[in-house]
This record gives sequence, structure tokens and C-alpha cells, in this order.
Amino acid sequence: MSTVIKGGTVVTADLTYKADVRIEGGSIVEIGQDLTGDTVLDATGCYVMPGGIDPHTHLEMPFMGTYSTDDFESGTRAALSGGTTMVVDFCLPSPGQSLLEAISMWDNKIGKASCDFSYHMAITWWGEQVFNEMEEVVKRGIPTFKHFMAYKGALMVDDDEMYASFQRCAELGALPLVHAENGDVVASLTQKLLDAGNNGPEAHAYSRPPEVEGEATNRAIMIADMAGVPLYVVHTSCEQAHEAIRRARSKGMRVYGEPLIQHLVLDESEYANPDWDHAARRVMSPPFRDKTHQDSLWAGLASGSLQVVATDHCAFTTDQKRFGVGNFAKIPNGTGGLEDRMPVLWTKGVNTGRLTMNEFVAVTSTNIAKILNCYPKKGAILPGADADIVVWDPKRKKTISASSQQSAIDYNVFEGIEVEGLPRFVLTRGKVSVEESTMKHEPGHGKFVPREPNMVVNRALSQWKEITAPRKVERTGIPATGV
Ligand code: URP
Ligand code: ZN
Ligand code: ZN
Ligand code: ZN
Repeated sequence: MSTVIKGGTVVTADLTYKADVRIEGGSIVEIGQDLTGDTVLDATGCYVMPGGIDPHTHLEMPFMGTYSTDDFESGTRAALSGGTTMVVDFCLPSPGQSLLEAISMWDNKIGKASCDFSYHMAITWWGEQVFNEMEEVVKRGIPTFKHFMAYKGALMVDDDEMYASFQRCAELGALPLVHAENGDVVASLTQKLLDAGNNGPEAHAYSRPPEVEGEATNRAIMIADMAGVPLYVVHTSCEQAHEAIRRARSKGMRVYGEPLIQHLVLDESEYANPDWDHAARRVMSPPFRDKTHQDSLWAGLASGSLQVVATDHCAFTTDQKRFGVGNFAKIPNGTGGLEDRMPVLWTKGVNTGRLTMNEFVAVTSTNIAKILNCYPKKGAILPGADADIVVWDPKRKKTISASSQQSAIDYNVFEGIEVEGLPRFVLTRGKVSVEESTMKHEPGHGKFVPREPNMVVNRALSQWKEITAPRKVERTGIPATGV
């Protein structure tokens, strides 16, 4: 049985051209003119693009005394409805817990996934067991390790632990990721604000100013450089962090930055809303910033100093957010965005001229697949690639509303935004899972995508490290020791 996507314009990270795409057995088998097949999907007036990849989600994650509400069922359904065909979630061992046990816990959650997924592993503590298990984690197809520099007393690791883990990543060909905020300073500012009676959700933003993020980003970059390993900075939200990434890249360091769709379009004025629920629903780390930071992030995407756009989808209901009434530090941190990332980025990016269509494909899919090392199985419209495809109708419109969303929570931080540009069809490994606003997804269809370590980048870095390593100077004349 074959399917042909007919009459559309193929848009990839580097090319735009008219062609039909034929799919068989879940893969793209042919791209060309006047193709025929058993099923025809009409793509007239549409762009045929690689399905989106969200490199940063937290589905059914235990966090701050509760679990994020969207699980692999509602989360992957939400992803597909907005054109995202793969998510990368974080396995989160509790401090002291085996990494392999955390993988088993995550494997128990994925039964109803409707699109493909992969995992990152979080390093939440350090010891010989973690050091040893990291090798097995890589062998199981998880070559990316996340480090929290914030959440002191819970998930945070210190510099010595981070340096040890980064060196281990270098040996294994793995890529370290960081949540870059100075957790010690955040803890101190939080206490100071609470002591002063500043306990509302707006104080969450005061407790995590851009300097906290800029400092930690720079520190992580320097530590990665000393360990001889590339670095991926998650949820880059401000100019200070972007500036550190830009500077490192201009010195030849392999550092990647990931803005979120939330930080690109929503700003700190949300926390000034007199409605407690409105502000608390937008509490996430890092917090929303002022508009000058947004301009910096957009510029980074256009110029290539920032490479990918994610959501950090970690959705809590209003009731869960209310755990923090009277103490902002108890509001579960996180917001949603899985189904809105692609339409909102298209509307605010491509429709405004801030991004080209090809850049849109790069930052929502292809760059992610390359950095996380699953390209061209994912992130490509090429023969042999998985048929994870979005047929994008640039004329379809809707107003974002919680009342019609797939996500299981009771609000949407993008409520009321009118988007122009939405999927006509979304295919996951050839299966049509979305047709305009009709969901045709199949819970259980989603499969784990194992990824190889990226030995190419790590080998280049370790080769350079070896060439420039400290060496003892062999001297011809050594004076006798003085008496
Ligand atoms: O506030 C956030 N970002 N919640 C999810 C966990 C994390 O820090 O990524
Ligand atoms: Zn320590
Ligand atoms: Zn984070
Ligand atoms: Zn996150």
C-alpha cells in the first residue's frame, strides 16, 4: 500500500521545490513529479515539510510534589494536532536512584504514545553508580544528559559534579544539556522576597533575573570547554544567556541554544495580571522576560546563533498551580505549548518576515534531528527517511483556545492568539494522524527512537584537546639545585 502527497511544495531546511512525495511501509520512497499511489493526499496550496520535533518535554513528570498533567497519551496527541511528530522527554531519576531504573519507569509511561519519542537522561546526583550507568544509558540509545544548575535541594548538581559528568560525556560521545540558572542565587533571592512578604507569582520572576541565567550559561559553557565536550543550553530566554552562547560560538566552541516558543512571544507583563491564577499559570523557569530579550532571541534564530525552538511542555492544571497560594516558590514550574509551537512560530515568525520558511523547518525539525543525532531518519524529506510529514496549509486559521485544545489542562498560555498557518495533514511514519481539525491518531503507534552518540563532534573536540593538552617541557640544561 502506498500513499502519495500530491500537488504541494516541498520545503526543507535548505530547499523549496514543487514535487509529489510517495510513502511505503512508513518511509519516504520517492520524491518526484506526477507520482501515483493507492491513497492520494491533496497538498494543493500547501507546503510539505518534515514533521516537527520537540526536543524538550516533560510528560507525566514527578515534580514539585505533583505530576505534570499531560502524559504520553494527551501530550503526543497535542503534539500531532499542531504538526509535531516526535518528542524528546526527560527521564528523571530521583537523587540516589539508578538511571536504568528511571528508564524502566519512563518505559512504563509510553504505552499510549501516538507519535515517536526519544529520551534524554537527567543527571540529578553524582557517584560511581551514575558514572558506570551512563555507558549503558548511551548503549540504550540515549546519548544526551541533562544537568539542572537550579532547583537547589532537589535536582541541582554543583560544578564539581557537572564537570565530572561532562568529562564522562566527552568519553562516551554524549552531549550534555544544561538548565542554566544559578540555583544558589535563586534560593537566596527567593528567601529574601518571601521574608519581605513578596509571595505572589510575580515574585517568581523577581527571584530569577536574567543575570542568574547569563552567569550560569557562561559557567556551563566554560566547564564544557574545559571538559572538551559540546554543550546544549535548554530554554535560553534572555540576551545575557544568548550573548554567552554567541561569544562561545564565535570562538569556535560547539554550543547550541534552545529558545522556547513561550519566551519568543509572551512577556513578563503576564505576571502583573491582577488575577492570581492568570499569573501563576505562567510561572515557569526561566520566567517570561521583557520584549528586548524577545528581540534578541528572534535575532539569534535568524542569524544562527540559536538553533532550535522547543516548548519545555510541562503542563499543570490551575488546581496544581494553586499549591503555591501564599508562597510563589511552591507553584509547580512549567507551561504547555506542544500543539501551539509550530502554528505560533509560523504566525509570529514566518508571517512577519522574521524567519524564512526554510529557517522555520530548520529550527522546528532539521537542526534538532542533527544536533540530537537522529537525522536523516527524522527531520528530513528524503528517500529512506521516516514519513513523519506535515502538510502545512498557510491559509488555515484559528484562534487558540483551551476549549478546543488536546492538552488535558484547563487553560492555554496562548489563549486568544490568532494563528494563520496550520496542518492540513500530519503523518507519523506514514500514518495519517491528523486531517485538519479531525484527530485520526492511534495511541500505541509511537515508538522509541534510539540515537547513537555523536562521535564525530566529540572526536573532533577530543583530538583538539589532545593536541593542545599541557605537556612537560623536556629541557637540555637543568641548573644544579642551590645549596
Ligand atoms: O519551569 C519549567 N521549565 N519546568 C519544567 C522543568 C524544567 O526546568 O525544565
Ligand atoms: Zn559538590
Ligand atoms: Zn529547565
Ligand atoms: Zn524542562
